[in-house]
Amino acid sequence: MAGSFNPGQRPCPDSKPGQAAGVNMRGMTEMTAAARSFTARLGLELPLIQAPMAGVQGVAMAAAVSGAGALGSLPGAAMAPQALRDAVGLMRRDGGLPVNLNFFCHAQAAADPAREAAWRAALRPYFDELGVSPSAIRNGPGRLPFNEDAVAVVEALRPEVVSFHFGLPALPLLERVRRAGAQVWSSATTVAEARWLAAHGVDAIIAQGVEAGGHRGVFLAEGPAFDLSGQLRTMALLPSILEAVRVPVIAAGGIVDADGVAAALRMGASAAQVGTAFLLCPEAMTSAVHRAALQSEAARNTALTNLFTGRPARGIVNRLMRELGPLSDVAPAFPTAVNALAPLRAAAEQAGSGDFSPLWAGTDVSGCRAIPAARLVRQLAATL
Ligand SMILES: Cc1cc2nc3c(=O)[nH]c(=O)nc-3n(C[C@H](O)[C@H](O)[C@H](O)COP(=O)(O)O)c2cc1C
Repeated sequence: MAGSFNPGQRPCPDSKPGQAAGVNMRGMTEMTAAARSFTARLGLELPLIQAPMAGVQGVAMAAAVSGAGALGSLPGAAMAPQALRDAVGLMRRDGGLPVNLNFFCHAQAAADPAREAAWRAALRPYFDELGVSPSAIRNGPGRLPFNEDAVAVVEALRPEVVSFHFGLPALPLLERVRRAGAQVWSSATTVAEARWLAAHGVDAIIAQGVEAGGHRGVFLAEGPAFDLSGQLRTMALLPSILEAVRVPVIAAGGIVDADGVAAALRMGASAAQVGTAFLLCPEAMTSAVHRAALQSEAARNTALTNLFTGRPARGIVNRLMRELGPLSDVAPAFPTAVNALAPLRAAAEQAGSGDFSPLWAGTDVSGCRAIPAARLVRQLAATL
C-alpha cells in the first residue's frame, strides 16, 4: 500500500494526557479521549469525516456518510447557494443529519490579459489537434469564493461545521459564521499555518499531509509561485502540529483504510478526514474517465499540479501534466486556469480521454472501492 498513512500498530508517540489509546479485548482500537470529546461535541458516532470534494460529490454522498454515523461534507466551492440550501434541506429532513459546509476562501484574481494570452497560446496546439475552436472558451467563475451569499447560506442553514480551504475569510464574515453556531475548521499544510489558524481561534485544524488528493490548502506560502518545499507527509505533519497547538487536529492525506484511521487516532488526531477512498462510491459524481484512471496503473503516479486551476493540487499524472510540466508559470492565477481548459476537457472526455481533466487523487488509491459510501464508512471504522 505505497504512499498511505499507516504507521502500523505501535504505541501512541503523542504523550498528551488523556489521549492514550489501547487495543481492547476484541482487537479493536479503543477511541481516544481526543476522539471521544470530538464526536461528543458534534453528536457523531464516529471520528471520521468525508472530505468535501468540489466537483465530484454532492448531497447523495454527504447524506450517506452522515447517515452512517460519520460527518458528511458539502463542497461550497462547486455548489451555488441554492444548491447548498436544497442539499442541507434534504439532509435535515432525512433524520436531522449533521453536515459540514466547506468553502474556498480565495480572493477572485484580477484579470491578467498577458498571462491569459500566454496560457491560451500554450494550449493552442491542443485546440488544433482536437479540432476545437478557442471561441468555445467562456469566462466562468471557476470555483466560488466564500462571500456575502455564502455566509447568508450559513446563517440560514446553521450547519454543525463550516470548514475552509486556503486560510480563513475576512473577520466580519468569520464572525458571522461563528454567530451562526458553527464550529470553524480550516486546513493547515505546515506547522506555521497551523499556528496561524490556532491564533485566529479555529475550533479544529485539518492537518493536510502532502499525500492528500485535490487542492493543497496552502495559504501562507502564496505569491506568484507557491512554495511547496515545506510540505510534509501526514505522519510527520500530524505530530508536529499536535506539538505546536492546543486545538483539536484532524488528520487528512493518504488515510485509506481502518488501520490508517486507527493510526491517526493513536498519534493524537481527534478524527480522520478521508477523500480519495470515496471516489468510486456510487454516490460520488466522479466522471467515467476519472473512475477509469483511479482503477488503472496510471493511478500509481500522482503529482502536484497547478495547471487545472492555478493552485497546486494532487492528481493522477496525465498528458497535459506530462507535456507542460505539472507545476508551470504559464497557468493563470486560481481559479481562472479552468476556463481555457474547459472546452479541451469536454472534447477529450467525450472521446473517453482524461488527457485534459483534473484527475484528483491522493498518493494511495488502494482504498477506493465501488461500494456504497455507508459501507465504506463502516470499513474505515472497523477497528473503532
Ligand atoms: C477529488 C477531490 C476534491 C477535493 N476537493 C476539496 C474541496 O472542495 N475542499 C476541501 O477543503 N478539500 C478538498 N479536497 C481535499 C480533501 O479535503 C482532503 O484533504 C484529502 O482528500 C485527503 O487526502 P486523501 O484524498 O488522500 O484522502 C479534495 C480532495 C479530492 C480527492
